[in-house]
Amino acid sequence: MDLTLRKILHNFSALTDLAAETSSTHNFEEVTRASLYTLLGALAIPRGAIARYTVRPRQLKITAAKGLAGAVGQRIALDRDEVERMAKRSHPISIQAENDGFAPFVERNGDLLARLRAHISVPMIARGELMGLIFLSEKVTRDPYTEEDTQIISAISKNIAIAFYNHRLLVSLKRKADENRRLYGEMRKIYRDTVRAFGAAIDLKDAYTSGHSDRVARYAEALAREMGVTGQDLEHIGVAAYLHDIGKITVDRAIINNPRPLTDKEFGELNKHATTGFEILSHIPQPWGEIAYMTKCHHERVDGTGYPQGLRGDEIPLGSKIVTLADSFDAMMTDRPYRSRLSLEQTLSDLRVQTGKQFDTAVVAAFCRLLLKEIGGTTRDRVFIPLIGLKFDRVAITAMLNSMITEFDGSSPRYHSAAL
Ligand SMILES: [Fe+2]
Repeated sequence: MDLTLRKILHNFSALTDLAAETSSTHNFEEVTRASLYTLLGALAIPRGAIARYTVRPRQLKITAAKGLAGAVGQRIALDRDEVERMAKRSHPISIQAENDGFAPFVERNGDLLARLRAHISVPMIARGELMGLIFLSEKVTRDPYTEEDTQIISAISKNIAIAFYNHRLLVSLKRKADENRRLYGEMRKIYRDTVRAFGAAIDLKDAYTSGHSDRVARYAEALAREMGVTGQDLEHIGVAAYLHDIGKITVDRAIINNPRPLTDKEFGELNKHATTGFEILSHIPQPWGEIAYMTKCHHERVDGTGYPQGLRGDEIPLGSKIVTLADSFDAMMTDRPYRSRLSLEQTLSDLRVQTGKQFDTAVVAAFCRLLLKEIGGTTRDRVFIPLIGLKFDRVAITAMLNSMITEFDGSSPRYHSAAL
């Protein structure tokens, strides 16, 4: 095989490898420059430049050059007709030949083309679209370009054009993906704000529970996270916590705010809120079915004496068990129509008595671990401290929490996604 031809083939395969690298958006300018150098080296051309075509604005911009100081960054405006004709051009444009169909283009850019020492210009075309132009000076030998040269140039320029095309596609895909991610983030924020607004609206009905839904959601999310729940499961538990009492919007305000013990009939009315909440939320399609069911079960008890279904143990969704504890803890630690808030010691003591009856042991253990971390200062998160304050017997509470952890931790299987 002829040595020159072998050299060209070698360079050409190197260029193909380079084009493959353009799938990485980082060093694209470098790859363009290397492509140009390979082309010039293959045919012993001393000077040349590559210009990329952009539709908006409709122009060429020089992105790589060799032997031409100050060329990179130069721009050349094109008109629509020129773009269309270049995209159909199958052979190089001769800058010198006046009747090559591009006389106005050459005349208009005469100064720049002279500075580029351009002798011929090769449109780079991929899938019928103009990707850019390659400007080439005379060869070192000053011999005219042969038919064989132009075939090689055109093959290499196609290769670079495809690299440009792929790169443009990649950039546009990345931009779309970024835009989608941004829109998704915005949607999630709107969704969360809406859920919070609903939670606040429920709280408004109860004179004593300002901020209750917000706090219950914060506790429930922290507890779920502590139990190893992540991603969408975590988000669903948060939403169920915000909306756990949504059914109360149909309960008479006088019953909700009644300071005296409720009659059986009033209890009956109030207790309907779990089922009503489910009926409201279950009309919303997935993933709300799961959230709706979690709210329905937030008054179930692990010993089976809760309502509305009297479920036991693991028949109750983990999200509901978490909301039950978060809800009760907040209720115990805040003033109610019928009593003042309990002390932290009293609250923990009540929780302990009700563990395995009203509350799930694993959830109580997670709660104790979290509270201990906050009190002991081993976490910077402040989930419970804002409500409980700092006026409590630190030694006694720490001892109590440690003892509850010993009693309850490990007595129940840890969270598995399927058990949610
Ligand atoms: Fe409730």
